[in-house]
Amino acid sequence: MTAQIIDGKALAQTIRAEVAGRTAALKARGIQPHLSIIMVGDDPASAVYTKHKVNDSTETGLSAKLERYPADMPEADLLTRIEALNADASVHGILVQLPLPKHMDSQKVIETISPAKDVDGFHVASAGALMVGRPGFWPCTPHGCMKMLESIGYDLRGKHAVVIGRSNIVGKPMAMMLLAKDATVTVCHSRTRDLKAFTLDADVIVAAVGKRNVLTADMVKPGAVVIDVGMNQNDEGKLCGDVDFAGVKEVAGWITPVPGGVGPMTRAMLLVNTLEAAERAGNPAH
Ligand code: GUN
Repeated sequence: MTAQIIDGKALAQTIRAEVAGRTAALKARGIQPHLSIIMVGDDPASAVYTKHKVNDSTETGLSAKLERYPADMPEADLLTRIEALNADASVHGILVQLPLPKHMDSQKVIETISPAKDVDGFHVASAGALMVGRPGFWPCTPHGCMKMLESIGYDLRGKHAVVIGRSNIVGKPMAMMLLAKDATVTVCHSRTRDLKAFTLDADVIVAAVGKRNVLTADMVKPGAVVIDVGMNQNDEGKLCGDVDFAGVKEVAGWITPVPGGVGPMTRAMLLVNTLEAAERAGNPAH
């Protein structure tokens, strides 16, 4: 059996086109959706990611501005800047790129962002809203994974979904989203005994560890859906996921590739969240 590929790049393109249409409609009402991105320090990976976020936004009709500050910026100054953006009605989304310099308390910084503008979905209020099923912004990566499952018409009701990884950004919110769709969810992590016993029973596996070959063909039930959130480098320096793609695709029913899977979807979902922040601001009843 060879798995069908879930093409994240193509799906992200469809989502971006939809965002562009809704953005045009908002603009016609005089609302220009705007994302403010803050980067502190000069981490090279963060510089690339933030540039992508600006370009993705502007290509879709959103406006976005990157503010860069030196690594020795006092935390109090960053909090003051975030508060000014919170109060600025022309700013709909605020994203503080992580990691922050060591002298800053990242959670405190994130918690300073207004939940109404928390397009990363990292604020404790956003996490709480997801947990209890209230409106709020969902973190982009697990939200993108849910869209991929939706795109293949997968019915999660009663299915066993195994999430490998328990981060606040991916593993935990992923589990909540799957649970909300009536899956039976198991969260596995570095202390899990006999990971294979869980994955072999899974109908859906989401690998979000950040380590190559966490999931190999012998660990997958024939026909299972495999979503690979990993972003690692192989021995040739090429981007690869957490899943042994070549082996697992011979067993799984569906699989997401790396690159071209979850990555483009994560980027697209940030645009969706920013647009929705602007839509909600322009229509406070929603
Ligand atoms: N650093 C790496 N990924 C992300 C992300 O999705 N959001 C933010 N704010 N920082 C990141």
